[in-house]
Amino acid sequence: MSLLNMRTTCFMAVILWLTTGSSRCQTPIPNVHGGLGAVLGVSNASVLLQDPSSETLYLGARGSILALHTSNLTWKHPSIKWEATEEERKSCMGKGKRGDDCYNYICLLEVLKDGRIYVCGSYAYNPKCAFIDPVTFVLVKEGGDKVKMENGKGKCPYDPRQPHTAVTADGVLYTASPSNFLGTMFDITRATGQEVHVHQSINWLSDPEFVSSALVRESPGDDDKIYFFFTENALEYDLYTKVRVTRLARVCKGDVGGSKTLQKSWTSFLKAQLVCQDRDSGQHYTVLTHAYPLEHRLGDPSSTHFYTLFTYQGKGERVSAVCVYSLADITKVFATGGFRDMKRNCVNSGSSESVPDPRPGQCVNDVLRARGYNSSFDMPDRVLQFAKEHPLLTNTVDAAPLLVRRGTTYTRITATNISNSDAALLHLGTDQGELHSVSIVGRTATLLQEIPLTTSVEPVNNILIHQGHVVVGSPSSLSRVPVEGCRVYSSCQVCARAAGLGCVWDLNTRACVAESPVQRESEDPLKVCGTGEGEYEHYSTIKQVD
Ligand SMILES: *[C@@H]1O[C@H](CO)[C@@H](O)[C@H](O)[C@H]1NC(C)=O
Ligand SMILES: *[C@@H]1O[C@H](CO)[C@@H](O)[C@H](O)[C@H]1NC(C)=O
Ligand SMILES: *[C@@H]1O[C@H](CO)[C@@H](O)[C@H](O)[C@H]1NC(C)=O
Ligand SMILES: *[C@@H]1O[C@H](CO)[C@@H](O)[C@H](O)[C@H]1NC(C)=O
Repeated sequence: MSLLNMRTTCFMAVILWLTTGSSRCQTPIPNVHGGLGAVLGVSNASVLLQDPSSETLYLGARGSILALHTSNLTWKHPSIKWEATEEERKSCMGKGKRGDDCYNYICLLEVLKDGRIYVCGSYAYNPKCAFIDPVTFVLVKEGGDKVKMENGKGKCPYDPRQPHTAVTADGVLYTASPSNFLGTMFDITRATGQEVHVHQSINWLSDPEFVSSALVRESPGDDDKIYFFFTENALEYDLYTKVRVTRLARVCKGDVGGSKTLQKSWTSFLKAQLVCQDRDSGQHYTVLTHAYPLEHRLGDPSSTHFYTLFTYQGKGERVSAVCVYSLADITKVFATGGFRDMKRNCVNSGSSESVPDPRPGQCVNDVLRARGYNSSFDMPDRVLQFAKEHPLLTNTVDAAPLLVRRGTTYTRITATNISNSDAALLHLGTDQGELHSVSIVGRTATLLQEIPLTTSVEPVNNILIHQGHVVVGSPSSLSRVPVEGCRVYSSCQVCARAAGLGCVWDLNTRACVAESPVQRESEDPLKVCGTGEGEYEHYSTIKQVD
């Protein structure tokens, strides 16, 4: 059954740079051909995992895990039921929690090194993890008929509503999550294999809300790093009023902790402030919602850019903004920025101590190995002592919004590369269950289409890209929409908006096609549509920034 439907949407009301624009126009947004939707028959769907090796899409919801064919969203196996026991539920409610929060909400699905799927759930405020055999799609048992379970503390929150994030690197799991019943303690850990945690005694984290995480490969291999995006209290600004800021933290994949100082704690943990600020108005966007890494040149991790989504509560309306950070800018701040002294914690004091060598935050790569440092165990105590007390860099990673949109709350962002061009295509999910496509050419953002996806108005909580389609998830439904190639723009107007992506309307076949170099024309691409004067206004480009 298709959940896609036609809807009339106004183009001028969108993403004009910091303006609401007029709302006169009524351009219908055409239906997208070949879209698929599935009503899941489950509630509180929250996690999606695409396993490329088997073309299987795993979905975690309340008390169940589904396995679907990614290409058509049909069931591949009967679903797995994994509920908290009646006893656990009673105990949860006995601790004063609402009945609704005392179910097993699936919060994590990742493929482990051995090919099994690791699944964690809030398990009635007592997080647990289990293993799924991907071939038979059943929970792995032990000692007869008992499901083999592990403690999920620090991997998932006790409270199913608290934010958290997880990522795997070579089949090893890294998580960032609240780690106690009250939701007042937090950890960033390597959760499988050799366990490493954040150091708790000094404020490495202050009331963080974890948003996203990503592995970035850097050669030589031992330079691979895991990045975590979150918001937290800025202890560096003021001791008395709470200021929330956006952070990017990173650890080295090869970090095994220190031998004396920072035992079983990250020796490479470092964080910097991410700034998303409109240079003209000075407006800061501080509430980070989601971040997505895009490798612009395939196979070249150094070409990675993070597309990040921010919101801000303006006068009576929500404002959403997209800021993009290049790995090059981030690397520069982490490699050369000053260290803030968190022990003395005075307002805006940069660190006066000299930075030790090897510089904290540096991974044990070939260069350090040649100097006799074989692992983080070998790091000198004075380096680790300094690292422990200086988790924050004084320099910030700065960007100006690529697009700003008033009155719309975006919840998820993904980005894809358009082959043979320097353009990118953004897919943005809204809190109203819509998917918006935006092309980015240079610093110019153009809204291409707005596609309502779900029958009920629910926030989009997952978007993933699969073979020229996006799979969009919300708590009770899933849709698959073709997004790549000019053919998906089924009207002349939408095709004209996609001119920056190299699309052109072919009058003979009445289809949007990739333009050949000979066809390139400098005139307004809307002209070919033969529409009246008034229609020209519908072609909207977000004002260029910079
Ligand atoms: C689960 O879904 C129900 C129905 O939509 C909602 O009322 C409830 O708040 C959700 N629970 C959680 C923990 O998200
Ligand atoms: C869905 O896709 C799978 C694998 O690609 C295929 O085996 C199955 O028959 C398809 N189901 C339907 C209903 O098209
Ligand atoms: C590092 O490894 C090399 C070769 O395996 C060894 O000779 C050296 O002693 C090690 N260094 C330390 C500090 O353990
Ligand atoms: C993105 O486009 C560039 C430029 O043409 C191309 O070299 C690269 O392979 C593309 N990357 C991906 C991930 O498709």
